[in-house]
Amino acid sequence: MKVLMTRALNLIAGLGLYDLWANRNLEEIHDTLIKLGSLDGNEQVLDVGCGTGILTSRLAETLRESAVHGIDMGPQMIRISKKRAREKNQEISYELGSALNLPHANGKFDVVFTCLLLHLLDASEKELALREIYRVLKPEGTYISAEFEEYTTCFLRRTVSSYPTGIIGKCGFRVHSRACGPSITKRHRTSYRVLVKPDIRGKGTNG
Ligand SMILES: C[S@@+](CC[C@H](N)C(=O)[O-])C[C@H]1O[C@@H](n2cnc3c(N)ncnc32)[C@H](O)[C@@H]1O
Repeated sequence: MKVLMTRALNLIAGLGLYDLWANRNLEEIHDTLIKLGSLDGNEQVLDVGCGTGILTSRLAETLRESAVHGIDMGPQMIRISKKRAREKNQEISYELGSALNLPHANGKFDVVFTCLLLHLLDASEKELALREIYRVLKPEGTYISAEFEEYTTCFLRRTVSSYPTGIIGKCGFRVHSRACGPSITKRHRTSYRVLVKPDIRGKGTNG
């Protein structure tokens, strides 16, 4: 189901419809992610599940461009990201690939971002993705994400969360801070997490 959703997103992007939706709905979320990043302009940054590169391109406006990387498993997403970078004359390194097997070296990045990626992964994929993000982060690196807030389904009153609460600690991360934002789907509020490697930043929670 989630694979189908990802394929559908890729097709929709190819028709230009994803950008129409994202430009109307994601600006405030991207603003919040950038603010949480507190970037000073010298960081090496990776945007995982970068989609059509809207956030990635904004990050390149704040950073040295050669330091900005984006990866997505959708070929159309990467095609449109590259086109956006060409049109804006930005030097961003885009790759077609999976969050579950990042092609980047250990400890390369200061900050990794994901925006609305985790809800598309099942539990075992979330764990793999988190482990990969942990691996490519520097020891003092930070992972910042935006997702849908936890909600209860009508069917069986099951609680659904995009964040793999139990897995965050298992993968070595600590929650440095969390925040909640407005709804983008009318039903679910947006929820942010800033995750760090615990040795450097002291105490946090696993939630
Ligand atoms: C809802 S879109 C968000 C795109 C972008 N982050 C944004 O803010 O516009 C989710 C993206 O995650 C990508 N994706 C889903 N599963 C992935 C995986 N395993 N590895 C890499 N990208 C993935 C999809 O192709 C899609 O582009």
